[in-house]
Amino acid sequence: MASLFEAHPAEIRLLDAGAGDGALIAAFVRQSCGGRRRPKRIAVTAYELDEAIVLALERTLHACERECRQSGIEFSAELRNEDFIEAAVSLVRRDLFGVSSTPFNAAILNPPYRKINSDSHTRRLLREAGIETSNLYTGFLALAAKLLAENGEMVAICPRSFCNGPYFRPFREQFLDMMSLRRLHVFDSRSAAFQHDEVLQENIIVHAVKSPEKPESVIISTSSGEVGGKVTERACPYSEVISPRDPERFIHLVAAESDEAVRQKMRRFATPLAKMGLEISTGRVVDFRAKQFLVREAQNDTAPLIYPCHFNGGFVHWPKPGGRKPNAIRDVEHTQELLVPGAIYVLVKRFTSKEERRRVVACIYDPHRIRAERVGFENHLNYFHARGRGLPMDLAKGLAAFLNSTLVDVYFRQFNGHTQVNATDLRNLHYPTRAELESLGRKIGDAFPGQAELDALVEKELL
Ligand SMILES: C[S@@+](CC[C@H](N)C(=O)[O-])C[C@H]1O[C@@H](n2cnc3c(N)ncnc32)[C@H](O)[C@@H]1O
Repeated sequence: MASLFEAHPAEIRLLDAGAGDGALIAAFVRQSCGGRRRPKRIAVTAYELDEAIVLALERTLHACERECRQSGIEFSAELRNEDFIEAAVSLVRRDLFGVSSTPFNAAILNPPYRKINSDSHTRRLLREAGIETSNLYTGFLALAAKLLAENGEMVAICPRSFCNGPYFRPFREQFLDMMSLRRLHVFDSRSAAFQHDEVLQENIIVHAVKSPEKPESVIISTSSGEVGGKVTERACPYSEVISPRDPERFIHLVAAESDEAVRQKMRRFATPLAKMGLEISTGRVVDFRAKQFLVREAQNDTAPLIYPCHFNGGFVHWPKPGGRKPNAIRDVEHTQELLVPGAIYVLVKRFTSKEERRRVVACIYDPHRIRAERVGFENHLNYFHARGRGLPMDLAKGLAAFLNSTLVDVYFRQFNGHTQVNATDLRNLHYPTRAELESLGRKIGDAFPGQAELDALVEKELL
């Protein structure tokens, strides 16, 4: 991370927000002392809230001072044992009123991650600084960006969840307007770099420069995260990383040539979901809220309740006797708004485990196999429907085959680093035409073929 800084000014004013024991500052100082273009002076401001770690941070800062002195670099450090959000918001607000503080020209950070509730003090503070975000790490990044001087550089390691997803859209807009992305480093495997921490999110390193001008290209690099592991990198046109036509401003991490080939193939598909007359919704039955209506096995007055555990080889297999989940929901007045007409739908899991081979897992609900007037889809599922009605079977089969292809899966992973598949993500995907999907669907019989055969079929029919 320290080696990614490019500007080498004579005087560096470095910010580390959430400094911990100062590992990143130490790396920065080591890099500066060892470089050919040494600065004259480094002034560090380190924010760390946790009192228990402040002593270790102090020690690191002293060690940095010694190292700088040996290299003939002036060093000063300000350790602020306080809440960065609070401090930064007040700095940003002072700037708004024209009382400007000397801004930083470098920021290195590994911010804390935590959801922030919409009515919390932190959220209100961020709002005062004009930042709307629901996670602490994006709050840190946005504030650090605001505290940078023009052309100041930022290198941060953080989850890649901000790259897509509706909740991060205001953050993406603000951050990408302020900052010019230069490099995104993706770790191939979650396990290597963070094997000691229980990190579920995939992490990336972001290098960006404060400037409204966008670069022609962004370097996307990857490595396993193991020390000394091979790093591959390629320059991607900026418009491929963030499409100028995408109002969501998703950030596509197209890491390898093979990923690029997938992107090119996917570009062939240009049909928005709405044009096919289809919509996607999230399952309406939130099981803990509807507890009193759930029953283990079907009875006379119940409708099938479908969970991801009912997915089986491309079709819903229901019921699952003896399973952990209830198989049915009472079909009574109170539950009418939770149920949909018994018809053909394509279901997609919203959450997949890390071990699952594919991120996008689709399956067909077929009312000929499960006879019921109404059906409940549990909230861990998304379902495709034709404006509230079912789909014709050929279209459903074609759509499920397309979604279950390796092509879509690889494409999807380029902009979605977590194991959650949002309805928005699927809504924003571009699809083959309805006729193409129907024709693909006609090639599929009563059971879906295995992955290799399915991929070959999708390739042959659609590409
Ligand atoms: C992910 S750790 C990174 C530590 C260090 N920078 C590193 O890379 O090893 C995030 C740090 O932020 C600190 N932190 C959490 N909330 C904070 C806040 N509101 N203000 C300042 N620091 C905070 C935590 O105590 C923790 O040390």
